[in-house]
Amino acid sequence: MFFGGKKSGVGLDIGTNSLKVVELSNISKKPTLVRYGIKELPPDVIVDNHIMDPLLLTETAQGILVESSITAKKINLGIQGKYVMVKKITTDLMNDNEYNHQVRFDAQNNFPFDFEDIDIMLDYHILGKNKQDKTMDVLLIAAQAGFIDQYVDPISEANIKINSVDINIFALHNIYEKTAGIPEDEFIIFAHTGADFLLLNFVVDGHPVICRDINAIGTYQIINDMIRKLGISEDEAKKIIKGETPPPPDQTVTVSQVYGELIEEITNNISKLEDTAIRNKADKIILSGGGVFIPRIKEVIEENLKRPVEIFNPFDYIQVPEEDRENLQKIGPVLTIAAGLALRG
Ligand SMILES: Nc1ncnc2c1ncn2[C@@H]1O[C@H](COP(=O)(O)OP(=O)(O)OP(=O)(O)O)[C@@H](O)[C@H]1O
Ligand SMILES: [Mg+2]
Repeated sequence: MFFGGKKSGVGLDIGTNSLKVVELSNISKKPTLVRYGIKELPPDVIVDNHIMDPLLLTETAQGILVESSITAKKINLGIQGKYVMVKKITTDLMNDNEYNHQVRFDAQNNFPFDFEDIDIMLDYHILGKNKQDKTMDVLLIAAQAGFIDQYVDPISEANIKINSVDINIFALHNIYEKTAGIPEDEFIIFAHTGADFLLLNFVVDGHPVICRDINAIGTYQIINDMIRKLGISEDEAKKIIKGETPPPPDQTVTVSQVYGELIEEITNNISKLEDTAIRNKADKIILSGGGVFIPRIKEVIEENLKRPVEIFNPFDYIQVPEEDRENLQKIGPVLTIAAGLALRG
């Protein structure tokens, strides 16, 4: 393309709790928010990473585009979960053409998928070539085709055209890189906590080296625990986790213990991967997703890991319409992945 890339894009992030949509313009020069929306999914549409009610997903997707007045013809979709895997490997030095023949072999050796019987989609990015050792670092990506269809089919049914399907962790990586910037010489951990997923991306020298989508760690777990262990209503639990109501004073310790368990799970997952796979300590941890509103999450992770923790709001870096500024200052971190998907153009 001669004139500096595409101008606008729409990202649709399908989460267990809600759909998020973001439309950006001027993405190649100075990303600017055009429109955005969040729409809760009815309960049990997505359970344990499976779409149980595709029809309701279709209706919710149609609804969010209408309510947020998005008229763009095509959207970029994101996927996450256990049927999507990413791994950094080191392999023999070769050019793209040669590697196209080798990628399936490397994927079979590195991913626990049933390549014989299941249709697996593959992709890769060459991260760097080492001519002296005759090796290269490659980021391998594999996803079960049937799993991608679970997302693509209900969206297509909504008469929404899909421009691309990206991996949520990469959307998160891209939006941070293109807005805040990722320094070449730092080790940064991105931890995106949603309703039912913890996405972790360990970035060393600007490249993702470990990516994990961990199911059953998120706000849903603490909401359920609060209802079960503290006998409070679902509504009350949701408000506390959104940071809208302070925990009841007579129960402060108990309530913070409940969400303390989730924070501990997050820090344990980070520490375990640092110790086993990287053997190094990250310079900082960047949080995003609806989990950032859990009371004191930033401070507690900081105390546990003894490293700086930041909450990432992409709209601190993106030009936004005046009337949206106040709301986005609060809910921006929830829209991180949708914004990253929109950057795809
Ligand atoms: N508009 C909002 N204002 C405040 N908090 C919100 C808002 N929307 C969502 N949340 C909080 O975010 C949580 C869900 O996080 P998020 O939207 O990142 O999850 P998701 O993407 O739907 O799920 P998944 O984990 O499957 O990706 C909710 O449980 C709630 O606590
Ligand atoms: Mg999500």
